[in-house]
Amino acid sequence: MTIRSVVIGSGHYLPEKCLTNADMTRLVDTSDEWIVERTGIRQRHLAAEGETTSMLATKAAIAALEDAGIDPQTIDLIVLATATPDYTFPSTATQVQAALGITGGAAFDLQAVCSGFVYAVATADNFIKAGSAKRALVIGAETFSRILDWTDRTTCVLFGDGAGAIVLEAREGEGANADRGILCTHLRSDGRYRDKLFVDGGPSTSMTTGHLRMEGKEVFRHAVANMAETVEESFRLSGISPQEIKWFVPHQANRRIIDATAKKLNIDPSRVVITVDLHGNTSAASIPLALSVARRDGRIETGDLVLIEAMGGGFTWGSALMRW
Ligand code: UT7
Repeated sequence: MTIRSVVIGSGHYLPEKCLTNADMTRLVDTSDEWIVERTGIRQRHLAAEGETTSMLATKAAIAALEDAGIDPQTIDLIVLATATPDYTFPSTATQVQAALGITGGAAFDLQAVCSGFVYAVATADNFIKAGSAKRALVIGAETFSRILDWTDRTTCVLFGDGAGAIVLEAREGEGANADRGILCTHLRSDGRYRDKLFVDGGPSTSMTTGHLRMEGKEVFRHAVANMAETVEESFRLSGISPQEIKWFVPHQANRRIIDATAKKLNIDPSRVVITVDLHGNTSAASIPLALSVARRDGRIETGDLVLIEAMGGGFTWGSALMRW
């Protein structure tokens, strides 16, 4: 008997305010044509004044819990991936825990920037497999609009705010690829690339929040190679082939990166879930947002083999294979 972490619910939340590329041209020297051609992004949602990461996360969590049809009190683990927490401390996860009225179990934040959700899934899966948790809420939530330099056209057009969540439950499996649940996860990082994508502030350095800085071309160059490498490792170790993947749900940073990665991995374009056009890059929220969208519109069905992967600041990167 093998313990599997099975997805029993998913949900998402996007702030009401939406900025189109035309709106961006009123803020910086850019054009709809440039943004669409280079990134595939057409619009992004922005949190309202006073609307925090924990508020977005709580709404996504409520949607996921309702989808699962379970009592929030039965959640014994919350792992929340974010690079834009409400406060330096306490964690955003404990804010969500309180907002949901959960008084038991453990809640903590996880910081791996855009790879955060993949890291959070791997972490929750290992807690469940070790028998330390039975039902986990795994959330990716961001308010990147708060750390953008709105005068820097090379970064501010790329990001958006949002949140997505899944509920994982411990179930018995056979230990085979036909099992429902997380089948394998692979995480990687290489801290030598810190200066390619970072925020130039923090409590222990500048005592400020800071702004996002990125050498876009350099990140692009590493993204496809790194993400393809971790997925190929998953295929090799699991014995699963690219043709078996029903839905490829990559981190949504750039349409060109997504297309190039799918091509390198031999995954049919019709199997790729794309939301970057509507959400922009929402960092740790992008994958659970895309999972929830594809689940709600009927694409992802129970039993489907789903591949997620991401790369972000650090660099960090990783992938997970799951049978929904
Ligand atoms: O989620 C974390 C991981 N992040 C990523 O994966 C992002 C990875 N990088 C990228 O997606 C792309 O590199 C970008 C979308 C950021 C940039 O695309 P690019 O094709 O690499 O463009 P570039 O940076 O080489 O810039 C080309 C030109 C430059 O002008 P010059 O120097 O050729 O005259 C830029 O100044 O485009 C200019 N440019 C813009 N023009 C209009 C840069 N930003 C803009 C803009 N509007 N917003």
